[in-house]
Amino acid sequence: MRVRHLMIALAAIATMVVTTMAVLELKRRDVADAVQSLPIEIGGPFTMTAHDGRTVTQADLVGRRSLIFFGFTYCPDVCLTTLNEVALWLEELGEDGAIIDPYFVSVDPARDTPERMAEYVDYFSPRITGLVGSDGDLRRMAESYKVYYARVDLDDGDYLMDHSAAIYLMDSQGKFFDAITYTATFEEAVAKLRRLVDEG
Ligand code: NI
Repeated sequence: MRVRHLMIALAAIATMVVTTMAVLELKRRDVADAVQSLPIEIGGPFTMTAHDGRTVTQADLVGRRSLIFFGFTYCPDVCLTTLNEVALWLEELGEDGAIIDPYFVSVDPARDTPERMAEYVDYFSPRITGLVGSDGDLRRMAESYKVYYARVDLDDGDYLMDHSAAIYLMDSQGKFFDAITYTATFEEAVAKLRRLVDEG
């Protein structure tokens, strides 16, 4: 009878796990859907400096497809993972993704110089362009992309930047097309990028 009880208990646990996973999956979709159906405008005019020194503005998005995300080179985790994933998606797309320009925008202009950004993004993919700007340039761009960032001071005098992790996909007019959230799977992300190339 003990075995039977154990089996029933295991079955109950399995049901709970599956239900929890289904709920989490649903929540994830809700978040993604909510981001996509937001009535607010995402994106708009900006002027930033690329890691190679050239100026990049909203006009550079026109006629291309853009993947834009925000972070900083001293980020201990999320940015590393995101840059690594973006590089893998680009690799998977190959020539199909040649029209996509990925931009990594620094929310830490005090430390992220163009030189440092150049070295950092190149470590992941030569396709990625690092963007930096003055505090004002960054604030304006972050406001139009509805990106949150804030300095978090650490006990040792060092600091981190807390920041939104969503990746914005912009169409050939430089308008918001879709978003890839931090929880998206490899397949979901690549499918969205293919849609961006075809329909954006
Ligand atoms: Ni980060």
